Amino acid sequence: MSVIRTRALTKTYGSLVAVDHLNLDVRPGEVFGLLGPNGAGKTTTILMLLGLSEPTEGHAEVAGFDPTRDPLEVKRRVGYLPDQVGFYGNLTGRQNLRYTARLNRLNEREIEGRIGGLLDQVGLADVADRTVDTYSRGMLQRLGLADALVKDPSVVILDEPTTAIDPAGVVEVLASIRSIARDRGAAVLLSSHLLHQVQQVCDRVAIFVAGKVVAQGTMRRLAEQMAGDTLQIEVGLEGPADALEPALRAVPGVHEAVRDEHDPRVWRVTGSRALQQRLAGELVSRGVAVWHLRRVGDDLDEIYMRYFANNKEVGDGRAA
Ligand SMILES: Nc1ncnc2c1ncn2[C@@H]1O[C@H](COP(=O)(O)OP(=O)(O)OP(=O)(O)O)[C@@H](O)[C@H]1O
Ligand SMILES: [Mg+2]
Repeated sequence: MSVIRTRALTKTYGSLVAVDHLNLDVRPGEVFGLLGPNGAGKTTTILMLLGLSEPTEGHAEVAGFDPTRDPLEVKRRVGYLPDQVGFYGNLTGRQNLRYTARLNRLNEREIEGRIGGLLDQVGLADVADRTVDTYSRGMLQRLGLADALVKDPSVVILDEPTTAIDPAGVVEVLASIRSIARDRGAAVLLSSHLLHQVQQVCDRVAIFVAGKVVAQGTMRRLAEQMAGDTLQIEVGLEGPADALEPALRAVPGVHEAVRDEHDPRVWRVTGSRALQQRLAGELVSRGVAVWHLRRVGDDLDEIYMRYFANNKEVGDGRAA
């Protein structure tokens, strides 16, 4: 059962299609990532899920309610970290959380313990009683995460939750996010343009380019999907200089062989998947010694970059 569900959800601004017929399903206990470059439509999607922006077409259901018709019911159930957090600067971190807790009608006797625990969880215990206008950007983002969790929501939506957080902090924040889903069974939707972070924390991902989901699934499936049928192998070869290239090209399945600019003994070979098992044996049988062989281009980062590069034309031609 999905607690976040969209069907053909679409938002246009004039002739720009910011979100284009989006279908999403996020289940309880799952961290789902909206991954995409700047302007892909992540924030626009989130605003529609919260009833803060009205869809042009299609619909959404969040925690059993239609955000357009029942925005208050949705807001009551969803913990939301906006991309730009806003707090009362003259109040302390703790006072801000207390304010949110009262707004959400939390039991007075539980409030202090609860916000104390959250301040610990996001690493702000030491600065909790300083006014927020003295907070750094990372501290504000951490406070935003705590604020989203005050009401112990069953659905948590986080818009770029780690952009201002330092590398050591990111590890903790991601662990916190994981535990919201794992231990509390909440459905977590987060947006990010950072593949590595999404990869570490998300069960499933939708890759968003120019308002459209171009791929969706587990990280492993996406990697397979995006890698396609070809692979690239880096090989280090030893043998008579003018015999190397013909030997490489003679191997069945090799599409292309390019010599490294810096190290003439190293080649980059592009070819069919079967090459991974076969290349070394084939070369050796042709009298070429192989001293190094490494598959390249399989790293998700590279795949992600390649994928976005390949989808540039989507971005250029997306006017409605
Ligand atoms: N209020 C608005 N009026 C007009 N265009 C808008 C508005 N809000 C967003 N857009 C456009 O919609 C597209 C999607 O924007 P959105 O903010 O959803 O992207 P994003 O994926 O969140 O990007 P980022 O990673 O930069 O946060 C962009 O082209 C943006 O310029
Ligand atoms: Mg955004």
